[in-house]
Amino acid sequence: MCRWHLERIAGAGAVILAVMWPALTVAAPAGEPTTGRELYEAACATCHGSDGRGAAAAMSAFPLAPPDFTDCNFATREPDNDWIAVAHGGGPARGFDRLMPSFAELLTEDEIARVVTHIRSFCAEDGWPRGELNLPRALVTSKAFPEDEAAIRVIADEGAVTTRFVYARRYGARSQLEIVVPLQTVEDETGRWRGGVGDLSFALKRVLAHSLAWGSIVSVAGELVAPTGSTERGIGGGTTVFEAYLAYGQLLAPRTFLQLQVGGGVAYDRDHADEAFARAVLGHRLIQDGGRGRAWTPMIEVLGARELLGDATSHVDLLPEMQITLSARQHVVGAVGVRIPINDRADRPTQVLVYLIWDWFDGGVLTGW
Ligand code: HEC
Repeated sequence: MCRWHLERIAGAGAVILAVMWPALTVAAPAGEPTTGRELYEAACATCHGSDGRGAAAAMSAFPLAPPDFTDCNFATREPDNDWIAVAHGGGPARGFDRLMPSFAELLTEDEIARVVTHIRSFCAEDGWPRGELNLPRALVTSKAFPEDEAAIRVIADEGAVTTRFVYARRYGARSQLEIVVPLQTVEDETGRWRGGVGDLSFALKRVLAHSLAWGSIVSVAGELVAPTGSTERGIGGGTTVFEAYLAYGQLLAPRTFLQLQVGGGVAYDRDHADEAFARAVLGHRLIQDGGRGRAWTPMIEVLGARELLGDATSHVDLLPEMQITLSARQHVVGAVGVRIPINDRADRPTQVLVYLIWDWFDGGVLTGW
């Protein structure tokens, strides 16, 4: 960006802050309670507009349009805590533009929380699950919240490495399509490594019910796994599989959560066994800088699976893991964990799992750091 442009941006911000300052001191006399709406009108409406769509005057002078808070698709995704962090620390605190000023000196935490509650009222449609219910994704257990994201997941043990490229796209308030392309590398008996594309899968997920008051969200999903891998080379399962599951997320405390997933897969080729599984995740988010910085989320997964044959044993694994938000905007996150078999350990190796997820709705992968 050229210098003239930078100065213009800084100038526009300064002018608006200067215009705003007297309005703020008038609107918030010391000691008097002020509603979220009044605070918003005094501190935010100059740029964001009284209707939340972004003020026309600000937009014409600004090189960057403020977001439209009436657009539920945008405005329901972020939990309150993220917006409070932006209003408190200013845009750069969360990888946004510095045209969004910091209100740390002007408004108390409580006032910022009230303003954010007012901003919430701009989205007038019901049916959009709130960002608070968008719980951190575990390494194996699927989550209930619909997402727009691209991810790379790697599972490795001594004899095989699988890299899954995942593309998920949200449709409207409740639905999500997910496509997974796995690349598998396996070591054969002679010690040579061979690689290839594994079984592609396509999944549709739909939120059945959600409630912020209860802290709960439940989704149902159906998945089709196509036998695109080459079984002669030890890659892929060798049959079409239809899978279905229920995913449930529950906030236990503001930062502690439980997620459950139960389901099963039916193999089209009857030589292959059907399978049922149950998975649970317990996790807790630790957020640096008094709730405004990077989030560290330790989680523990318990993974149970059983082939639906008369004499099959149930397999249980434990998977301790850590998720970390990498970008300031928190739209790029990573996680690492170790999957440890608890029973029947002879043929089941310990695995290392890693993922990197980019929430592409929140901006380019290289922006917001
Ligand atoms: C000087 C103009 C200006 C003022 C005043 C202002 N904002 Fe902003 N705000 C912006 C701009 C511009 C953006 C877009 C930044 C970007 O996309 O990088 C923004 C973005 C935001 C976002 C980011 C949402 C997201 O996740 O994308 C929030 C939340 C927000 N503002 C809240 C507020 C609140 C609350 C107030 C009042 C207390 C306020 N703003 C006052 C200009 C302003």
